[in-house]
Amino acid sequence: MTRLLASDLLKEQILINKNTNCDRVDLEQIFLFILKVTRSDFYSKSHYLSSEDYKNLGDMINRRNDGEPLAYIVGKIGFWNIDLKVNKHVLVPRPETETIMELVLDSFDQQSIKILDAGTGSGAIALALASERKNWLIYALEKSENSIKIAIDNMNNLGLRVGFFRSNWLDAIQSSSLDVVVSNPPYIDANDLRLKADGVSKEPIEALVSKDQGFADLNKIIKDSFRCLVKGGRIFVEHAPEQSDLVEEFYEESNYTAIEVHKDLNGDNRVSSGIKN
Ligand SMILES: C[S@@+](CC[C@H](N)C(=O)[O-])C[C@H]1O[C@@H](n2cnc3c(N)ncnc32)[C@H](O)[C@@H]1O
Repeated sequence: MTRLLASDLLKEQILINKNTNCDRVDLEQIFLFILKVTRSDFYSKSHYLSSEDYKNLGDMINRRNDGEPLAYIVGKIGFWNIDLKVNKHVLVPRPETETIMELVLDSFDQQSIKILDAGTGSGAIALALASERKNWLIYALEKSENSIKIAIDNMNNLGLRVGFFRSNWLDAIQSSSLDVVVSNPPYIDANDLRLKADGVSKEPIEALVSKDQGFADLNKIIKDSFRCLVKGGRIFVEHAPEQSDLVEEFYEESNYTAIEVHKDLNGDNRVSSGIKN
């Protein structure tokens, strides 16, 4: 078989896949992944695809058009300042979750704290925090055994230190033992059409859906964190924009003070925080 010039093939695939899930950006990422080159390399030199590359290319484009997230297909995603391995067992970390990162890093600066990431998935929040603050004691819990394995792989690949363990939310945590809790829990209602969206439909349902119209896990984490936080300790939870009023009520019911709602980069209410006094 004649070798195929990758740049010509990319142009052709952009036309063929017009108006599909596999847009230009995704196609470019798939080509870079198959050729194992950077973007600048791709456009500054000639690259050729072997017949095996060509077959892999077709398979990956088909997977993307079947609704699989690009991050699962290329096996990784960037979050904050780190690259994380991801697969079908973990949620693909979202840019809006970086709102929690900014808030926590700004609030605690360099002081040494003991912090827990509840429902860590790929380890995204815990590991990004560990990369920024070497003097923090960082723990991360997760219900799914498969997720913990990926989070630990990510920790080892990145050479970072986080204490990962399995637990049903904060059940395994001692009272008054944490300075800070952060969490991006499942918060979507089981009937929400967003679950059918491109990419989302292939993610683990237990990472997305929560009972009580999406509020059950938010409510439990906020309640249980009050027991686990030290006096003066703080909690930051991510939620959907339309959930912020009820989440505020959960904070009030548990007697938190200084309750605040924080916006993400799109200007949507995304994270709520409170202090245990
Ligand atoms: C929305 S995902 C967030 C993952 C990661 N923190 C992120 O932001 O990419 C929620 C995570 O909570 C975990 N989870 C769901 N129910 C749980 C429970 N009862 N106890 C502990 N973790 C749970 C899921 O397995 C999933 O990894």
